[in-house]
Amino acid sequence: MEAKITLLPGDGIGPEIVAETRKLLEVVAAKYNHNFNFNEQLFGGIAIDETGTPLPDDTLAACLHSDAVLMGAVGGPKWDDPRAKVRPEQGLLGLRKALGAFANLRPVKVFDALADASPLRPEKVRGVDIMFVRELTGGIYFGTPQGRLDGDNGREGFNTMRYNEMEIRRIVEIAFDLATKRKKKVTSVDKANVLVTSRVWREVAQEVADEHPDIEYEVILVDAMAMHLINRPADFDVVVTGNLFGDILSDEASMITGSLGMLPSAALGVPGSIGLYEPIHGSAPDIAGKGIANPLATMLSAAMMLRSSLNLDTEAAAIETAVSNVLNAGHRTADLARVGETAVGTKEMGAFVTMALENIQTV
Ligand code: IPM
Ligand code: MG
Repeated sequence: MEAKITLLPGDGIGPEIVAETRKLLEVVAAKYNHNFNFNEQLFGGIAIDETGTPLPDDTLAACLHSDAVLMGAVGGPKWDDPRAKVRPEQGLLGLRKALGAFANLRPVKVFDALADASPLRPEKVRGVDIMFVRELTGGIYFGTPQGRLDGDNGREGFNTMRYNEMEIRRIVEIAFDLATKRKKKVTSVDKANVLVTSRVWREVAQEVADEHPDIEYEVILVDAMAMHLINRPADFDVVVTGNLFGDILSDEASMITGSLGMLPSAALGVPGSIGLYEPIHGSAPDIAGKGIANPLATMLSAAMMLRSSLNLDTEAAAIETAVSNVLNAGHRTADLARVGETAVGTKEMGAFVTMALENIQTV
């Protein structure tokens, strides 16, 4: 098949991990006879430096004219001044909105070989397989009014958390659809004891749940969920929640797998829209340019892209198997290595996965 893939390396470790993933995708294309046309575009802080805006028109146009978008990471101390007028993160929020990518799928799956790399005890994490479904284009990230003013008590900043029925229903429906193909359980996370937004969320979510009597359904308050994720992560299947809670809980959940450097994600809209694929970790400015970042979350995001946007199930599974084989063989980047284990760099890890992929038997 022919596919146009826009690559947005972005900032920090973004360019390093996207470069390795591109090489991997080139090998996938050669092995399975596809033609992937890559188009690299400026995005995030580097785009601010070069064009004054984090999401230049050319970048957005390239994304809108592609079959899928694969991103590295955005942001860093250089653009972190709280009074800055433009911020790299605005580019990411703008892109998610422009693609209509309201559903953020963040799978938290423990590779057997990494059960010991988690800060939690191996018996707690073995077999964990959670699908986080984070609402991505609403909630407090986008609600208006938002802004800052100089009031009677000095500087004041404000954001608004709001969700309407349509936004809640469509994301909760996605969670139930996913659960049907998985372990048939949905957990909705909110803060309904305090927030009006959450009370509406809970009402609508219950209505969707009533339409799916075959799926086990529960609601958990976000503070309690933070605890249950650590205490009994294997009890969850599909977890659906709003934008802010999903942002926080998915970072927390990543540690179950051993490292934030392992978690991929897919941001999807209505069927047929262009998907945005990104590792859930950030730009890691502290290790940028050192060649030690873990490329696996980006590679696993590329697998999600092949599966969801290009319908290439075999190829997606091949990437996942290659990653798993490399971990089983004992290769670890610095974030995964335990005391006494040698760590390989970004390029070495990339090469191991590429080699493992080449070695997978095709039928
Ligand atoms: C994420 C990130 C982003 C978010 C930032 C970089 C805007 O933390 O994808 O989880 O908050 O959504
Ligand atoms: Mg985040």
